[in-house]
Amino acid sequence: MTLPSKIDGPAVPVLDLKAQHHRIARELEEAVGRVFESGRFIGGEDCDLFEKEFAGYCGVSHACGVANGTDALALALRAWGIGPGSEVVTVAFTFIGSGEAILLCGARPVFVDVDPATFTMDAAQLEKAITPRTRLILPVHLYGHPAPMKEIMEIAARHELPVLEDAAQAHGAELDGRRAGSRASASIRARTSGPVATPAWSCPTMATSSPESASSPTTER
Ligand SMILES: Cc1ncc(COP(=O)(O)O)c(C=O)c1O
Repeated sequence: MTLPSKIDGPAVPVLDLKAQHHRIARELEEAVGRVFESGRFIGGEDCDLFEKEFAGYCGVSHACGVANGTDALALALRAWGIGPGSEVVTVAFTFIGSGEAILLCGARPVFVDVDPATFTMDAAQLEKAITPRTRLILPVHLYGHPAPMKEIMEIAARHELPVLEDAAQAHGAELDGRRAGSRASASIRARTSGPVATPAWSCPTMATSSPESASSPTTER
């Protein structure tokens, strides 16, 4: 078969972030202008408002805006006292930030393979990765596809382990009527320009429904 050297018609861009930006450009410019006018570049009224609205969007009660997704993970891990000597079970196939945050805390990542159908944690392989040193389970919702949280939460409950959901690539994704990132004790979002291109307004955040889990990252940031 010979491929045509030229295809007629307009080129369709693989990725067009400008299209979604144009829909909300005015609203964004006003908000950015307001922040510059206020001179409050860290925290402040707009940050408080964002955290409140974003928590509601994620289906949790607390959100804490931070510098980036890796920090969100590391702050949440530290809030659970994860450090040297701890093992955190996560997936072998994810963005480097998931494992990096575990290493940043001085802990050891233990990798479980992904289910080839979803590219998310294979719950059937999770239990054999748990050892007496396991302190937390960190599933990743990849490419907008949520991990099997029902099965993961059941295993975690059996072993009395907390779960931190890496939802950096899953803003707004849902499974069984629940937002990705709303089942576990806490979850994180990132402003990723990776495989799932999220727009600039998807601020890095740690989200949780537990006031105790929210207080430490909020103080540390
Ligand atoms: C799955 C996943 N986890 C964590 C991160 C880390 O986020 P950041 O690059 O903002 O540190 C990313 C970023 O792309 C990601 O895709």
